[in-house]
Amino acid sequence: MMARTIGVVPGTSALLGLLAAAATMPPAAASAPGQERAAIEGDAERGAALFEDYTCYGCHGYTGETGRGPRLNPPRLPQRQFIGYLRNPPNPRQMPPYRQADVSDRKLADIYAFLTSLPPASPDAEDIPVLREILQEVR
Ligand code: HEC
Repeated sequence: MMARTIGVVPGTSALLGLLAAAATMPPAAASAPGQERAAIEGDAERGAALFEDYTCYGCHGYTGETGRGPRLNPPRLPQRQFIGYLRNPPNPRQMPPYRQADVSDRKLADIYAFLTSLPPASPDAEDIPVLREILQEVR
């Protein structure tokens, strides 16, 4: 019953997950098959340059893995929701909005392609036993 409801409104369920600000949500949950509506074909190489031009790297790191913003590698959201998030982020004082007038859907699709082209993210330090021990010692 529940699963059926979610299946009918995939966009809404993904958005609710986002609003819950579940930064720790596993990436697979947001990219279930069938959720991707007519994605724009992006160009990863152009996206890499745009990721710098629009200073995303300043808060998310050059590989989307570091900085004060959440990890973007791998992207947690399907492309459409990713673009929607950038247009209207829930906390605009933390994550600046990128309006249509400033950056087109195509450019955001390029950035998305760049993020999905990155090699898998390295594990968190807390997930590597020897590093976790060191972290516990210094805390
Ligand atoms: C000034 C710092 C800053 C810049 C610049 C910035 N971001 Fe963010 N971004 C953040 C922060 C902080 C969050 C988390 C906001 C929150 O939790 O509400 C975030 C969240 C996000 C999210 C949601 C991630 C998730 O898994 O929930 C995406 C996607 C994202 N940013 C992409 C981008 C892209 C692409 C760019 C460049 C076009 C960019 N950001 C530029 C700080 C930034």
